[in-house]
Amino acid sequence: MKRPLFASAFALSAVAAVIVVSPAFATQEAAKKPVTFAEVGPVLKKNCAGCHTGDYAKAGIKLDSLKNIMESKAVVAGKPEKSKIYLAASGAKGVKRMPPGPKALDEKTVAMLKTWIEQGAK
Ligand code: HEC
Repeated sequence: MKRPLFASAFALSAVAAVIVVSPAFATQEAAKKPVTFAEVGPVLKKNCAGCHTGDYAKAGIKLDSLKNIMESKAVVAGKPEKSKIYLAASGAKGVKRMPPGPKALDEKTVAMLKTWIEQGAK
């Protein structure tokens, strides 16, 4: 069976439109995507809570639950530049880079932490 020419042309232009539009669309979506503690919690548990939990939590900062993070004043909701966990994870001046040692969090993870704090740390 032969398809009408206009149908093929339409299909082709639809494919072209998706290819052209999707990169910009994808970054916009990523910027708007809500980040919640459901994503942040496991990262902190894996990379931070080993040393930041219990009575001997390093620097008195507990990073093992959202409640403890807030009680430790490690995060100021809406203000990454005032949030100790973001400052430490991003290696900001005047703050010890965390986690200590050679394996810093990758850029994407640090950006996720920042977005989470900007969005209110919920
Ligand atoms: C291997 C243990 C260990 C791990 C893992 C670790 N920390 Fe720490 N953290 C410490 C120690 C020890 C200190 C106290 C450092 C000092 O004052 O010399 C500290 C201090 C801090 C401070 C206070 C820094 C300052 O200069 O005021 C913050 C904030 C912090 N950690 C956040 C984190 C975050 C966020 C993670 C995970 C990304 C993390 N830590 C992972 C051991 C650890």
